Amino acid sequence: MERFYCPNCQRFYPIQGTRWRCDCGSFLDLEFEPKFPIRKILKRGPTLWRYREAIPIPKDDSILTFGEGFTPLEEVELDGHRVFLKIDYLFPTGSYKDRGATVLISKVKELGIRKVVEDSSGNAGSAIAAYCGRAGIECEIYVPESTSSGKLVQIQAYGAVLKRIKGSRERTAEAAMESASRIYYASHCWNPFFLHGTKTFAFEIWEQMNGNVPDALVLPVGHGTLLLGAHMGFKELKEARKTDRIPRLVGVQSAVCAPLYRAFKKGWREPRPIEKEDTIAEGIAIAAPIRGRQILEAIRETGGEVLAITESEIGPALKEMGRRGHFIEPTSAATIAGLKRYLRKKNKEEIVVSTLTGMGLKATEKIGHL
Ligand SMILES: Cc1ncc(COP(=O)(O)O)c(C=O)c1O
Ligand SMILES: [Zn+2]
Repeated sequence: MERFYCPNCQRFYPIQGTRWRCDCGSFLDLEFEPKFPIRKILKRGPTLWRYREAIPIPKDDSILTFGEGFTPLEEVELDGHRVFLKIDYLFPTGSYKDRGATVLISKVKELGIRKVVEDSSGNAGSAIAAYCGRAGIECEIYVPESTSSGKLVQIQAYGAVLKRIKGSRERTAEAAMESASRIYYASHCWNPFFLHGTKTFAFEIWEQMNGNVPDALVLPVGHGTLLLGAHMGFKELKEARKTDRIPRLVGVQSAVCAPLYRAFKKGWREPRPIEKEDTIAEGIAIAAPIRGRQILEAIRETGGEVLAITESEIGPALKEMGRRGHFIEPTSAATIAGLKRYLRKKNKEEIVVSTLTGMGLKATEKIGHL
């Protein structure tokens, strides 16, 4: 049976009640042993639940699914390099956050919880709201007032109670945490069940590359739920002897809100508070990533790096992808700007995978001004 454990003070907790952090204040991880029965996996449908035995939901009846995942891995040529893009805006709610939400809200259902609270820049909130809607679980979603209107409308369409909070993304998180003393905190950054969903990103790439692993992954990083999930997924495959390598993890931040970039460059173990400015890449506008230390460790352990792109690189990257038939939101365009930077200094032999995490329709009013 799985348990929560604290990577900071090594305490264990049963998975029950409203606990969402350790008594020492740290976030919690999950003790869990995944399995990869290949023959069974290959017989299943193309959804992320094909990795059933690697996802910590014991009861089949608890699974809440729209048939999500197993998104295309498209090979494209970018600036003379061959790269692969995982098309993760093709999820039911239009962003990769459904990977985490399908697992976390399945767990919430399994625990018999009837109401949750979450805070987000908009996409995780939409994903949590959709799966709660499906399960008939009540939910309150806190977002910053500046969130794109597409995401606000979407969250409400799923029947969630929307709370718009004045001020920064951090102020929004504080407001949600006050609620979390009474209501289950279905937080994508604190709750490790979310990462046990986003890790399927790694499993799919491994399978789509016929059991091979790329040299590098270029990913957006705010709270790092995709980057940490990808790291966990490849580590689990390595521990299960399905591969002997883990890709270099390259995180992309916006230069005007880049706590991880700064900490990486300075050699700090932990990000320190920053003065952030507004960025159109709202999904990665995170001044104080909860799992900052864990993200930096993962990046350093794999020989990766953090890139900081400027606001002026986002619009051209978004338009370039649009002309190729991919309408993405600015946060995902920031990732592509980072990918282009990364490719400039790499040799052509390197196998690089990146991703398009969010659909452009969510942010049309912001994109219209680019
Ligand atoms: C479209 C999109 N891409 C990437 C991210 C970054 O995810 P994380 O903050 O978990 O690193 C987000 C987060 O909201 C997002 O909405
Ligand atoms: Zn602890």
